[in-house]
Formats: sequence, structure tokens, C-alpha cells
Amino acid sequence: MTSRGAEHSGQVGLPADVMDGLTRFRDRLGMFGRAFTWYSEIGSTNDAALLLAERGGEEGALVGADLQTAGRGRQGRVWSSPHGAGLYVSVILRPPKFLAGLLTIAAGVSLADGIREASGLTVDLKWPNDAYLGGRKVAGILAEAGTAEGGLTHVVLGLGINVSEASYPPEIAARATSLEREVGRPVDRGLVLATCLSALAVRYRQLMTDTPAVLTMWRSYSAAMLGRRVECTVGMRSVVGIAEDIDDAGALIVRSGGETIRVISGEVIWS
Ligand code: BTN
Repeated sequence: MTSRGAEHSGQVGLPADVMDGLTRFRDRLGMFGRAFTWYSEIGSTNDAALLLAERGGEEGALVGADLQTAGRGRQGRVWSSPHGAGLYVSVILRPPKFLAGLLTIAAGVSLADGIREASGLTVDLKWPNDAYLGGRKVAGILAEAGTAEGGLTHVVLGLGINVSEASYPPEIAARATSLEREVGRPVDRGLVLATCLSALAVRYRQLMTDTPAVLTMWRSYSAAMLGRRVECTVGMRSVVGIAEDIDDAGALIVRSGGETIRVISGEVIWS
């Protein structure tokens, strides 16, 4: 298990815990076991992975960091990424276009599978991309697409997982938790990364061969969320309703009055 040599400032070899986890799971990592770039500090691993993908980086290549200074989440939010507190990684995928919209769903299932294997904890998934424990957010996924000449060339999947307790800004601390806080013991960051990547290898392949199985797993991890009240923005409209299900394309189905609404993007507030 090797990482690339230091080509940019801040680029380092894989940290020992990450190296150990990936080495133990090397037979299960599939395409995610081939190319690694690690930074002690970086703006955003998604930016670095998008650049790498544009320059021909192979499918499965991973960019990780110990600290992000400009980590970001969906809807332009900041993803607080203090040193040593979490996993901040991005992987390059080159999916067929018709599956690109389901990547976040498959990634959510993979995070849930991986976190369960590494810690014994079962997260609740909230559409489209959030993993919760005890009502607080523990992990998130940011999928960003790259195109050329109007066609999809790659998708970068960014995974942020809060592993250890950190001093987050107060507005984040009230809504966030970590694996260690929830399980009450130290959690091995390298093990969590390895289990999540090996789950992603399985679920990404399954998305191609048996998409309904991935959707079924997503529903089982989101059972506590479906049936709940949501507020969402659909185009220019604000809708309040009950989140009923996801459809075959991964859209959230919301029942509002007598109307059934498909939510494919944008802000969803769960009450
Ligand atoms: C969200 O919950 O809104 C998504 C959070 C995604 C955070 C990860 S951390 C690694 C990667 N780099 C980023 O800048 N963001 C993602």
C-alpha cells in the first residue's frame, strides 16, 4: 500500500493509522485500493480530487487530508474540518451518466455499512446525504460532477466523518456528534476509512448490477426519517409535507396535501 510522493506542499505519505486500515482491507478495496494522495493540510479534498480527475486521475483515486481549511458541504455550507478529528476524503468516480444521480444514495449506504462494521453504530440516513446518530449529524457526502463538451466525465465523492470530539464552532457543536462520543470509546480512523471504502466498492458495483438492492438498503437505513415532516424548496416554491420514500432515480417523494412532489435537489429541512 503506497501513496504518491510529495508533489505539492502539504502532501505527505499516508498516516500510519490510515495505512494500517487500508493494508488490512486491501483485498476488499477494489478500485479504491490503488491510488492515494494525502495532505497534512489542504483547502478542500474535493477541489484537489476534481483537479486530479481533470488531469486524468484514475477511477478510484483517493485524496485525503488531516485538516481542511476550506472544507465545504452542500448548499455552500462550511464543513468544519479540524486536525485529527475526522476523516476528510474524496474519491474519483467515472460512472455512466444514468447512474450519476444515484451516487449519493449509494455513498450514504456505504457510509452506513462502513460505520456499522467499524464501530457497531447504525446511523440514520437523511436524504440526500446526511448520516445522523442520536439526532446529531455525524457524516456528510458532497458529490460534485465534472463535465467536458457537455458530457459527464467524472464525479468526485467527498466524504466527511466526525470520528473524534473536536472544538467545533458553537453553532455546529449543537448539531454535530462524533463516532467516539456515541460509542464511548476510541475509534480507529483508519479502520473507519477502510470499512467505508470497501463498502463503497461493493455498493458502487451493486448500483450497476442491482440498483433496487441499493435503494432497499437506503430505505432501511432511513426508516426513522421516512414518514417525517419536511420543508423543502422545489424550484421557486417552498413545500411542507411528509417524506414518504425515494424513487428509482433517488429523488425524495414528498406528500403535501393531496399532491405528490419529487424533490431532486435543493434544501430539505427535517422537522
Ligand atoms: C454535507 O453534509 O453537506 C457534505 C459534507 C462533505 C464534507 C466532505 S469532507 C471531504 C470533502 N471535502 C470537502 O470540502 N467536502 C467533502
